[in-house]
Amino acid sequence: MALTAPSGFDVSELREAIRTTYEQVALDPSGVFHFHRGAAYAVNLLGYDAAELASLPEEATSRFAGVGNPLAIGPIEPGETVLDHACGAGTDLLLAAGRVGPQGRAIGVDITPGMRQVASRALAAAGVADRAEIRAGSYEDLPVATSSVDVVISNGVINLAPEKRRVFQEIWRVLRPGGRLYLADVVVARELKLEARQRPELWAACIAGALTERELVSTCHDIGFAEVRPLMHFRCFEGTSAEDKVSSDLHVQGLNLFARKPQH
Ligand SMILES: C[S@@+](CC[C@H](N)C(=O)[O-])C[C@H]1O[C@@H](n2cnc3c(N)ncnc32)[C@H](O)[C@@H]1O
Repeated sequence: MALTAPSGFDVSELREAIRTTYEQVALDPSGVFHFHRGAAYAVNLLGYDAAELASLPEEATSRFAGVGNPLAIGPIEPGETVLDHACGAGTDLLLAAGRVGPQGRAIGVDITPGMRQVASRALAAAGVADRAEIRAGSYEDLPVATSSVDVVISNGVINLAPEKRRVFQEIWRVLRPGGRLYLADVVVARELKLEARQRPELWAACIAGALTERELVSTCHDIGFAEVRPLMHFRCFEGTSAEDKVSSDLHVQGLNLFARKPQH
């Protein structure tokens, strides 16, 4: 299982590569990266609604860097509390804030200061700061109360974590009984070769730390989730420089997955 980084891998180097990469995306999303960004990518490859994205602050949508479409997994009801862990510049969070309405809460957590600044400005510009907020923190130790969240959204996040079980445990902790996980993440057809898994820039590009679909599903079951359902797949790396760096038989793609924390 690839639930942890390879032994001997310098996790602090990985964290630094992730920090640098996403600060750069926050600073200038038009720069050169191994992965797609922006609204046109979200619409064309991930099935986001073009008109809905066009209604959001461009500062946020231009920095979108997800790999699937968590809000297409299921409904978000008025009055619910949603957590977007590692929300980046806040595109999914803004969409969730629209769904929960004035009686609900939408909380975004991210570790990168530049991303948090963009997301905070975008929430104010979109007029949803009454119900949505950005918190500084890590998905390994979420600044969110236990059993307080109806839906956790995750888009392009868990693959980045060197300790994936810990991240799933945090999601489990913050979800209320009966709460839903709307997860979009990268999956690969087989574990990457050790040489590729030891390249921090390939981790930061959401590839080297990806699990197979079977590992993702079995990890959800191990944590205790029920109704674990892999749904749509997305060609999220099509035409990127990352495709040249990994062999095509890896079938690197985005996956939408539903899971529920049981009531009892
Ligand atoms: C691939 S981007 C996806 C961002 C967002 N979900 C989206 O769809 O645009 C990954 C995000 O994870 C954040 N991140 C990386 N490590 C993190 C950690 N330990 N805790 C919280 N956020 C983290 C990065 O700052 C970045 O915003």
